[in-house]
Amino acid sequence: MRNTSVLFICLGNICRSPLAEGVFRNEVEKLGLSEHFTIDSAGTGGWHIGNPPDPRSIDIARQYSIDISKQSCRRLEAEDFHDFDYIFAMDHSNLANAKSINNNGGSAQLSLFTHYAGQGEIEIPDPYYGGTDGFNTAYLMIKQASIDVLQRLQNQANG
Ligand code: 4NP
Repeated sequence: MRNTSVLFICLGNICRSPLAEGVFRNEVEKLGLSEHFTIDSAGTGGWHIGNPPDPRSIDIARQYSIDISKQSCRRLEAEDFHDFDYIFAMDHSNLANAKSINNNGGSAQLSLFTHYAGQGEIEIPDPYYGGTDGFNTAYLMIKQASIDVLQRLQNQANG
């Protein structure tokens, strides 16, 4: 399998995309494919640059034995569209914001995460302003999308 680079994006890069980075990396590790993947996350907004993920995201990941506490928030940049093969957005507004950062350069494939997973146009709801339930929902949706996307990427790489 050739190297594949995957970037997860959301608005703040403190709730959903850090979770997606950690969960997807965990799925890749479980399959012994770590050496074939570069995995990162970023936000379209710049409010939390340099900060760790939201404590509620760290907690929900920890409940499923995944440590995302060492991640650091960064902003999506136009160069990311040159550096990554795939950029997966959590919702439609992330997609629109990413397109405005992009300037139409680069060869990254920008998709809604669930769409690329074959689940349709489902958004991972932003849990930032809600309670802990929203973080568990985000985790479960991200976990299933990660499994499905990884399967698709493996099929493509092997086929
Ligand atoms: P995220 O959630 O996009 O899943 O990281 C948010 C985090 C922070 C803010 C909005 C959404 N904010 O407005 O600061």
